[in-house]
Amino acid sequence: MTATNDTILVTGGAGFIGSNFVLRWIEKVGTPVVNLDLLTYAGNPANLASVEDNSRYQLVRADICDADAVAEALAKHRPRAVVHFAAESHVDRSIIDPGAFIRTNVQGTYTMLEQARRYWSGLDGTAKEKFRFLHVSTDEVYGTLGPDDPAFSETTPYAPNSPYAASKAGSDHLARAYFHTFKLPVLTTNCSNNYGPFQFPEKLIPLVILNALEGKPLPVYGDGQNVRDWLFVDDHCSAIRTVLERGELGETYNVGGNSERNNLHVVNTICDLVDEIRPDAKIGTRRQLIKFVTDRPGHDRRYAIDARKIARDLGWQPSVKFEQGLRETVEWYLNHSEWVENVRSGSYLNWIKQNYEERIAQ
Ligand code: NAD
Ligand code: TYD
Repeated sequence: MTATNDTILVTGGAGFIGSNFVLRWIEKVGTPVVNLDLLTYAGNPANLASVEDNSRYQLVRADICDADAVAEALAKHRPRAVVHFAAESHVDRSIIDPGAFIRTNVQGTYTMLEQARRYWSGLDGTAKEKFRFLHVSTDEVYGTLGPDDPAFSETTPYAPNSPYAASKAGSDHLARAYFHTFKLPVLTTNCSNNYGPFQFPEKLIPLVILNALEGKPLPVYGDGQNVRDWLFVDDHCSAIRTVLERGELGETYNVGGNSERNNLHVVNTICDLVDEIRPDAKIGTRRQLIKFVTDRPGHDRRYAIDARKIARDLGWQPSVKFEQGLRETVEWYLNHSEWVENVRSGSYLNWIKQNYEERIAQ
């Protein structure tokens, strides 16, 4: 067999960004999606409940480090593209267990690239020419910025500071090498912090929304002045579709939300939104719940994205303003209590204990 069909194969499609991507893909593009996902603590099939009976969606439960399973999925489904999201993605976990990040993010990406190369080598003509491997990465590979430094561009040197960022940098280098050495048609995107529905509540925004709702302490690391650029997940998904369709082979594209905010501002804004939407006399003003706690070791001070290349070359720009996206996100969490209850299982509670119990109030 040397042809492909319309199918795309997504890895990590049961995670936060992957599940948003799969849902939007089925809604807007409509061709079949195979989701190869190990369903780790971060993978949640409930995110995809609305498409689980859709004939255009299929889950393959497999490890991206398992070469045979990846080869089998490619041979069986004959995708025209691979969109590679699967990763260990939480910086705090990478400080506690770096090995898991090296395995999944470096070894797993190598396995995906190598199996994709073998599959692609066996394609003919147009199928070979049109095949794409899109590697989803992060702005954290560029390291940290001072308050007046220019934003990260595609030519900013790599300087990863956390085991998470270093493992993603390693995966980006492998993706680059597979293009240069083997001509595998690779595209890479490096985006800023995503937020939106279905994000596992270990990350800042969903954690603070849920704690604020319940009147629990809101842990702010260090002085709360660390800055992130916030990208609404739907905007990220549209950027990926754009790069997949029109990106130049071997190129990387930075994707940002034009929304630099410091953490304290983000937490204060969430407090005000929860007060407005779900006032609770017993809890009072949510800002009172803020607790400055021991900082994250090696905490990057500022990330900022220069997204002029994707705007200029591919015509993509973010469309959602942070205040609007954050309001939608808060409303989503407040309206999905069943989803929330299901993700906050024993392993989640263990993580909260492990990460926060010994953080001392500052
Ligand atoms: P996530 O942690 O929510 O989801 C990761 C998914 O990958 C889960 O479904 C999990 O089950 C799956 N997975 C993990 N290990 C696997 C393995 N060995 N084999 C198969 N599947 C496995 O992650 P996310 O936030 O959706 O991030 C997706 C991608 O985007 C990652 O590559 C991440 O580095 C990148 N990224 C995320 C952000 C962000 O703000 N969330 C920002 C920049 C880049
Ligand atoms: P996070 O959502 O973990 O994303 P990343 O580390 O990839 O940027 O954290 C966003 C910012 O919020 C980061 O500066 C760390 C900070 N933070 C807190 O202050 N408190 C918390 O409980 C968490 C999880 C993060």
